[in-house]
Amino acid sequence: MTEVYSVPAELAKSAWIDAETYAAWYERSIQDPEGFWAEHGRRIDWIKPFTKVRDVSFSGDVHIRWFHDGSLNVAANCLDRHLATRGDQTAILWEGDDPNESAAITYRDLHERVCRLANAMTALGVAKGDRVTIYLPMIPEAAVAMLACARIGAIHSVVFGGFSPDSLAGRLQDCASSLLITADEGLRGGRKVPLKANADKALETSGSVRNVIVVKRTGGAVQMTAGRDHWYHEITQAAAPTHQPVEIDAEDPLFILYTSGSTGKPKGVLHTSGGYLVYASMTHQYVFDYHEGDVYWCTADVGWVTGHSYIVYGPLANGATTLMFEGVPNYPTVSRFWEVIDKHKVTIFYTAPTAIRALMREGEEPVKKTSRASLRLLGSVGEPINPEAWTWYHRVVGDDRCPIVDTWWQTETGGILITPLPGATPLKPGSATRPFFGVKPVMVDAEGKVLDGAVEGNLCIAESWPGQMRTVYGDHERFVQTYFSTYKGMYFTGDGARRDADGYYWITGRVDDVINVSGHRMGTAEVESALVAHPKVAEAAVVGYPHEIKGQGIYAYVTLVADEEPTEELRKELVNWVRKEIGPIASPDLIQWSPGLPKTRSGKIMRRILRKIAENQFDALGDTSTLADPGVVDDLIENRMNRA
Ligand code: WTA
Repeated sequence: MTEVYSVPAELAKSAWIDAETYAAWYERSIQDPEGFWAEHGRRIDWIKPFTKVRDVSFSGDVHIRWFHDGSLNVAANCLDRHLATRGDQTAILWEGDDPNESAAITYRDLHERVCRLANAMTALGVAKGDRVTIYLPMIPEAAVAMLACARIGAIHSVVFGGFSPDSLAGRLQDCASSLLITADEGLRGGRKVPLKANADKALETSGSVRNVIVVKRTGGAVQMTAGRDHWYHEITQAAAPTHQPVEIDAEDPLFILYTSGSTGKPKGVLHTSGGYLVYASMTHQYVFDYHEGDVYWCTADVGWVTGHSYIVYGPLANGATTLMFEGVPNYPTVSRFWEVIDKHKVTIFYTAPTAIRALMREGEEPVKKTSRASLRLLGSVGEPINPEAWTWYHRVVGDDRCPIVDTWWQTETGGILITPLPGATPLKPGSATRPFFGVKPVMVDAEGKVLDGAVEGNLCIAESWPGQMRTVYGDHERFVQTYFSTYKGMYFTGDGARRDADGYYWITGRVDDVINVSGHRMGTAEVESALVAHPKVAEAAVVGYPHEIKGQGIYAYVTLVADEEPTEELRKELVNWVRKEIGPIASPDLIQWSPGLPKTRSGKIMRRILRKIAENQFDALGDTSTLADPGVVDDLIENRMNRA
């Protein structure tokens, strides 16, 4: 029996949304979406107010437009409009990798920094619609760079600092960025990350980049190319401290964020300005029950969508104090998260299940020796949270006092879609619970039949919401194919889910060839193409398997070219190769040497069988009669790597 955690009585009173309000607003958002969103669309400042609310089609000529005759400036919404009332309030509370380093940046200060960079970028010739790639560690300049782009209408593409030069190059080329903003080095867990050196390698093959702005973070030695590379501190000091925000149409792009899919290269998820900001700020306010005076901390990296919506845009649009953390959960000690919470009196804390599971392994003492008295709300994102981790998070971290919001969403959705609202929703450990306002989840079977009641199926969303992605950058056909062709007239999430008798959703994980490693999406096809790029590899197939800490681990079946001997050394070499090709997050956890892969007579790899063997569930392989050579399966089972 699932234990249900009811809403704390005081919270039901103090929260923005209680159970009655949730029911009433949700009902209205579904019955009268135009009226509902017309009202909530006004939560941000418009230069030219919108009169049209939405223009959406999920079939035929697929298009998604919200508030499309309005104009605004996203950065002005995050900065200028707060200056009169909260200029001296901390906007970004920065905590360095080293516990002795931190900084508080006020709204006034952040505004000035953004204006200076906006002017400096303009002086370099960057204008509205141009693409700017940001490859930075978790330092305030990352938020400044994003907001400076938004201020001039340039489209930013943030690339996670853990990605390799090759991955960076692919992303620079795909959107033809003219400017790259990076740092000399990053600092994580006491270790340096050679960002500028990586960038230099990537730039060898990225001809569109005309300028590079380099933030001095560590002071490590770097090569500066004259005429192309500029020090951030020099060009921003030389720039004027004020800047007139550029008027941007609601449907002008705000950013591109690359994310892995089931096939091919990562795709550039495109988000636009008006609807995205309405949705990010509204979900931030209601899901985290954000109130004046809260100190809010999301531990994500700005390289992922969670960092975009819930470190930068949502919180700053709401005038919040948002904490930005450069480091990692276990440096210098495994108490770091809880010490940071005490140091800055954090009230709302939002992290990923993988971090919880890793810290859970260290026992309760490193948590219990800290106070955490300031905490009032906890959040989870990125992957399903198993009930054991949920209850530990609730009991040990939250002292049985803080509700947990388990927020389900995706890069594509721009903001949270299925989640508890802390003053309204009784919690069930492991369930993301109910849809946010305006979100209409639908369960469908493999044939596309809509399923009612308590069922398990594929999760689709029937209606648009303002934060939805608009297209794949430069490839609208891929957008339509990926999200709107499997099930007609609906957005297909790629996730499976179960809906229980109370209408609660339990996300079961990806149903496509995407794996979720430590809350990071990885396409199996990407890892496969990295492996086969190695001269000794003839063929590779990659699947996910259950991993105690990471949620899913990466399991690779590798066939070597003729005459190559499988050795431990080669195994290590291949792991390092993938790290170098894509980045450490793509490292295979297990590599199985497989002289043959199970294929149909037409040569298609039967991934279902490989998944089962990797999951150590080889008793349930299903029908193998269509295999060209059923014998390979016995060999794979015999030599399987996961015997847990
Ligand atoms: C998974 C991260 C279960 C899901 C915001 C989704 C989750 C993918 C949850 C998107 C959750 C995210 N419970 N699964 N609370 N949150 N996921 O694009 O499989 O990096 O499709 O966005 O993460 O990952 P992405």
